[in-house]
Amino acid sequence: MKLRELQEEILRLKKETNTVILAHCYQAREIVEIADFTGDSYKLSVDAKNADAENIIFCGVHFMAETAKILAPQKRVFLANRNAGCPMAEQMDAEMIGMLKDREPDRTVVAYINTTASLKTVCDVCVTSSSALKIVRAIDNDKILFIPDCNLGDYVKRSIPEKDIKLLNGGCPTHARVTVSEVKKAKAEHPEALFLVHPECTPAVVALADYVGSTSGIMDFAKKSDAKEFIIGTETSIAEHLQYDCPEKKFYPVTKDIVCHNMKITTLPDVYNTLKGMDNGEAFEMIMDDELISKAGKCIDEMIRLGG
Ligand code: 13P
Ligand code: SF4
Repeated sequence: MKLRELQEEILRLKKETNTVILAHCYQAREIVEIADFTGDSYKLSVDAKNADAENIIFCGVHFMAETAKILAPQKRVFLANRNAGCPMAEQMDAEMIGMLKDREPDRTVVAYINTTASLKTVCDVCVTSSSALKIVRAIDNDKILFIPDCNLGDYVKRSIPEKDIKLLNGGCPTHARVTVSEVKKAKAEHPEALFLVHPECTPAVVALADYVGSTSGIMDFAKKSDAKEFIIGTETSIAEHLQYDCPEKKFYPVTKDIVCHNMKITTLPDVYNTLKGMDNGEAFEMIMDDELISKAGKCIDEMIRLGG
């Protein structure tokens, strides 16, 4: 099947099966085109909760589909490619954080949403990159343990110096790969361009930014800005989507290496096969027990309460 035919078949099956497709912005263009909802981690969580459909297919990584299931337990949620994981989400486990909590019970444990449901059960509140500052400021406690991303954590800590924020040594291997010399090289090649960066990059890279924000934050900033050229310090697909949406401006990925292979593992045939396999056990459905949903849900509900 040609790409357009496959997309049309997906749109037809989606309607026939009462399914909505949620795609993170790091997905390829041809997937974004057939999605009902696209956005960053926070927006997709809210979209999953509000989606008016029996089934959700998530084009993203495992923790995102898990979050969708927690927020919409009455819906069937499928991950389009069962192998799409996020390395950061696997870096810490509930046992380890439970031990730290026992040592310092007066700290509020703030978990980046890029964590497993099991880890969320021992955390107090989730954040996404777009809501982290607002939520940490709103927490009624000055003592915070921020996990797992120490780069996002460092950005939060510098922005909110009045709080005592403890960090651990986790992070996103894709964003952490960007180096200061790559940024300087890109700036030298495009001296008129603004540098927009995701806070999952290292503090030294973030320090060189004209704007720091989540995936959606970067996209909104670039679309509204009067500037004409931008160096994009996040997954390369964001530069591609922006170039498509704003053909009169110029977008350069800070380096061609800033690709999340976990996000890019999902293909259009995966989405098609998931639609075909929802009722014969071949699609990858998120099955979670009620206790896990309820315990992990508390920290996601708290995120929506404080960040909404
Ligand atoms: P946001 O979608 O919240 O910007 O996070 C980026 C990311 O790395 C998702 O895995
Ligand atoms: Fe995980 Fe980083 Fe990929 Fe996001 S970009 S899914 S945090 S590895």
